[in-house]
Amino acid sequence: MRRSKDADEMEKAHRKGLGLIAKVNLARSVFSTALFKNSVRPELYRIANHDPEVVHEIVLNEIRNSKAAVRILSSLFKADKELMVKVNGREVVPFGNAAGFDKDGDALEPLSNFFGFLEPGTVVLNPRPGNDRPRIAVDEQNLEMWNAQGFPSRGLEYFMKNLIAYKESGGKKPVYVSVCGLPVSESNAVEVAMREMETLLKRMAPYADGFVWNPASPNTAALKLLRTPEVFRQTAELMKRIAPDKLILVKMWPYEDAEKHQFMGFVKGFVEGGGDGAVVTNTKMFPKESIHAKEWGYPSGGRSGKFLKHYMLRAVRDMRIAFPGITIVATGGIHTGKDAYEAFSNGANMVEGYTPYTFYGLGLLMEIEKGVMASMKRDGFGSMEELQARASENAAAGKLG
Ligand SMILES: Cc1cc2nc3c(=O)[nH]c(=O)nc-3n(C[C@H](O)[C@H](O)[C@H](O)COP(=O)(O)O)c2cc1C
Repeated sequence: MRRSKDADEMEKAHRKGLGLIAKVNLARSVFSTALFKNSVRPELYRIANHDPEVVHEIVLNEIRNSKAAVRILSSLFKADKELMVKVNGREVVPFGNAAGFDKDGDALEPLSNFFGFLEPGTVVLNPRPGNDRPRIAVDEQNLEMWNAQGFPSRGLEYFMKNLIAYKESGGKKPVYVSVCGLPVSESNAVEVAMREMETLLKRMAPYADGFVWNPASPNTAALKLLRTPEVFRQTAELMKRIAPDKLILVKMWPYEDAEKHQFMGFVKGFVEGGGDGAVVTNTKMFPKESIHAKEWGYPSGGRSGKFLKHYMLRAVRDMRIAFPGITIVATGGIHTGKDAYEAFSNGANMVEGYTPYTFYGLGLLMEIEKGVMASMKRDGFGSMEELQARASENAAAGKLG
């Protein structure tokens, strides 16, 4: 089949940075998720030789290099003020990007023009490449991704340059940095993790608005040793001691009903240590055999996207009932305004996403926000704060879900 002019243009773009038509199409797709999904995205995949990670890098790169265009485009999308909520004393539009989306904070300023808050990272102390590529696969049909990235990070000092530049340029949207101390061996895992966390937090605290501790990466074996209620408590204490006025959260993983008690024990430890709440959920680990990829070089992979919504909702609801006052950030398969509205109705304070944006582009954010507004109006809520207050009342009355 003859390749389209757009495809040729995109391929040229890969070699030299995106060409004009490719740039224009990508920019136009901010107004149309269908254009992104059906036209721009397939072309990007061809350019990237079908490596989803390269596609993501091309898009992030483009966003970063087109700051002026991004500002103009995003100025056409202003979130309704009825959506705003108070988080740690600040007014926030509660729709953000999930960790992993902008690992090293390379696109903080441009992304802040769209998202209400940012969760860059996970940032670790020392630069590390992560696992060999390819390490991400996509399940097109089920709108899911699999990853075995293994914590690639350019490290603290690289990230600091981006964070400082964002704050010094007047960056207004809150940045909750995903961080983790990373033990390599099992002998002194907790000690090393704590020491690294301390360094990360001390360095970032003057600039960050909050932190999300991520001990939940399913691809990193030594992290398992951090998963005890006592280590959760100690970590929250450390985080609050170094950054007492910042939002302090922990990233949690999906659980089955039988694991609920254990899961809540971890959250309890974190909250008792002074933590403000949790982000739910991280990806769910599956064995190699169930991964939709021709070749997969790892024994397992973390699965994200549509199927996670069920786990996300359960965790949000269970936590809102068990810990009425905490801050809950929902992530996992939020593809529509209806999905986000369900998360808020079950007790989430904020929502964020990664995988859905890789299918639909940044225009999805506007669709989700508009969808939530429409559902709020339909159900008679004048503001997001009213909706969240109702969710809390329902949790207290045993009427959630
Ligand atoms: C490729 C990829 C990389 C990710 N990297 C991180 C990470 O570094 N830290 C983290 O806490 N979560 C990471 N996540 C998990 C997401 O933040 C999110 O919790 C999960 O994907 C569920 O949300 P989603 O369905 O909107 O993607 C990653 C997810 C994907 C798909």
